[in-house]
Amino acid sequence: MTQAFSRIYGSGFVTGETLVPNSRMAMVCDTTDEWIRERSGIEQRYFINEGTSTSDLAVGAAKKALDDAKWKAEEVDYIVVATMTPDYYFPGVGSLVQAKLGLTNIPALDIRQQCSGFVYGLQMCDALLRAGQAKKILFIGAEIHSGFMPFSKHGWDVVMGRSDKPVTQEEKDWNSKFRHLLVLFGDAAGAMCIAPTDDPQRGILGFALHSDGKDVESLYVPSAGFKYRPYFSEDHIREGRFVPVMEGRQVFKMAVTKMPEAVHEALGKTGLGIDDVNLLIPHQANLRISEGVQKGLKLPDSRVFNNIMRYGNTTAATIPIAYDECKKAGRIKQGDLLAFCALGAGFHWGAALMRE
Ligand code: UT7
Repeated sequence: MTQAFSRIYGSGFVTGETLVPNSRMAMVCDTTDEWIRERSGIEQRYFINEGTSTSDLAVGAAKKALDDAKWKAEEVDYIVVATMTPDYYFPGVGSLVQAKLGLTNIPALDIRQQCSGFVYGLQMCDALLRAGQAKKILFIGAEIHSGFMPFSKHGWDVVMGRSDKPVTQEEKDWNSKFRHLLVLFGDAAGAMCIAPTDDPQRGILGFALHSDGKDVESLYVPSAGFKYRPYFSEDHIREGRFVPVMEGRQVFKMAVTKMPEAVHEALGKTGLGIDDVNLLIPHQANLRISEGVQKGLKLPDSRVFNNIMRYGNTTAATIPIAYDECKKAGRIKQGDLLAFCALGAGFHWGAALMRE
């Protein structure tokens, strides 16, 4: 069996400041609480208050993880941040997080693997540690999806609970063009402290990662790119091209097929089987997807964790948040075999295994 090299010493997370129940989303687009719960399991999400940035959320989560690990920020010698929603088009958020933590002169790397950012980033952290390139890594998944939302200023006041005055029918019709996507996402960050293991029985055991770019346009943002000149324009805003395009059904089918395959592949590589898995933490894209993955892997409810009801899909942040909640709730015990799996835009997907 594969020998673990590194393990997680601490974790923590933060969400956007404002809790937004489904009923608020139903005030700005043609949807209902029932539809959202039935099709996705989501009951609420958190959005940031204007002015908070992805690097702010990342730093909030990082501080909690550092406290949990009992590490001082100055002990960190490498930062890895997974996000598809950075503060700026460039640079990424790694160096912003570094500066906001008061650190200088250590490498800060950005991972752009969308919903698979956690499993790809975890492999990067493990590989850096195995290669002796780092000793104490701060690994963060952070996202602000509210920037994708097409709401007007008044629409935002309604969503955030600052106004009950209805939006115009024109705005409702416009927002409703994107309703299948708007209702799914939330803002949050989760962080982990990762270092060489102090116990040969514990740690990250292996990965099965894949990419396939042929269906890229089934889930992507059709603007703000250097295939356009200029890379962002008024046309992009007018046509709503800053909102991701998502072929929901297709992504759903891919997710329930590829994630179980990746878990089996990772288990096979490490000489383990599905019966050895104590807890599966799937990327939280849709509760129905998680149920499909669970069914595909023939796991009972007691061995799968979901929290999408409370946060929506927070992309690179879902798995570190779920891990932290499980840890703090005593749902994970030392020695448990954990399986993480994800699929998202690119398409990228995969699984990771870890002995707690
Ligand atoms: O992390 C990776 C990112 N994305 C994903 O993983 C998304 C994967 N896909 C999904 O989660 C689901 O496909 C959705 C939640 C996006 C959609 O659920 P669905 O069960 O696949 O619904 P559907 O797209 O087949 O649409 C069913 C109906 C349609 O109406 P008609 O054509 O039957 O009249 C939609 O127009 O539901 C309608 N609909 C809505 N109704 C109320 C779509 N969005 C909404 C909405 N509220 N928000």
